[in-house]
Amino acid sequence: MTSDTDSNKSRTKSKKGRSKPYIPHLAEFNFEPTEDWSHDKAKQLYSNAAPSLNDYEPDTVQFTECIEGMRSLPKSSIDLIIADPPFGIGFDGKSGVYNRDETLVIPGYREAQGSYTEFTKDWIAQLPRIMKRDASAYIFSGWTNLDAILNGASDAGLTTLNHLIWHYPFGVYTKRKFVTSHYHVVLLVKNAKSYYFNKIENYPQDVWIVKRKYRTGKEKNSTKLPLEVVSKCIDFSSRPGDVVLDPFMGNGTTAVAAKAAFRHFIGFEINDQLKPLLKEEINSVTPGQFFKSYKERLPTIEELAEKYPRAYREYLKQKGQRKSIKKVMQ
Ligand SMILES: C[S@@+](CC[C@H](N)C(=O)[O-])C[C@H]1O[C@@H](n2cnc3c(N)ncnc32)[C@H](O)[C@@H]1O
Repeated sequence: MTSDTDSNKSRTKSKKGRSKPYIPHLAEFNFEPTEDWSHDKAKQLYSNAAPSLNDYEPDTVQFTECIEGMRSLPKSSIDLIIADPPFGIGFDGKSGVYNRDETLVIPGYREAQGSYTEFTKDWIAQLPRIMKRDASAYIFSGWTNLDAILNGASDAGLTTLNHLIWHYPFGVYTKRKFVTSHYHVVLLVKNAKSYYFNKIENYPQDVWIVKRKYRTGKEKNSTKLPLEVVSKCIDFSSRPGDVVLDPFMGNGTTAVAAKAAFRHFIGFEINDQLKPLLKEEINSVTPGQFFKSYKERLPTIEELAEKYPRAYREYLKQKGQRKSIKKVMQ
């Protein structure tokens, strides 16, 4: 079975009722992001924003247990949450199967204490109060504990907007079963009618293929998300100057991605042995360092023309028609 959008009806009706052939990729030529900002405008929004987070300074990581930490945040103060909780599989952060040099792994990785289901339910229950009306939350999860996340989200009254798959084309070798090479990323919203979503690509799909980087020879916490994956969440679901919360800050990927995209951040992390690493990571980027307007990231008309000549011809035809209509109206 295919949905309306999947089926992409091969013929669309023109205004006169005549059917026009569907031209694949034509929409890409005319695509514009829902919202976009120049570097200067984004910088201005970032500098003028004055996030109010009670006792916490914006753009800091608090070495506090996250449930306690979130309780202290003001109501409706957060625009976006990115959460990569402990796995709940008794992972010690050093296990040899992950092919790591254990001497480079910073100790103190904190697994979920007690029942994973209860822990998950408790921390997700904190989210709706601190989320702004149009806020979203991206929660990362392996498949083994996905049910706890989905149940926690539904108990908290959050709506699942998408169930994304992050596919990393490399997994831990197995002998008698398939290699796991994906993560689930659940996109939740507080308000299904008025959430913020910036459509910055014409056809944003729910499978993200991003390699995991193994930072050989560098000290790290046991797990680290790729900056590209976290940056995608930030780009699609927040604006410059917004506040991004990460309750499980780890190596600080969310803080780095937010700062480099002209977003503010606040984070919690229970392992204070990560303090020096986090400081180094966050100081390694300047505000807006990776910021690029979305339009600049899109393929140019020339690039599209080379890939899709038929759609390009149609685009030129339609553009010509639009120009002559304009002339007639003047
Ligand atoms: C999977 S890692 C996050 C990695 C992070 N996304 C990154 O890219 O570096 C989970 C982190 O949560 C921390 N943690 C575990 N329980 C916590 C809690 N209750 N409150 C705050 N942090 C916690 C762990 O110490 C660990 O650093």
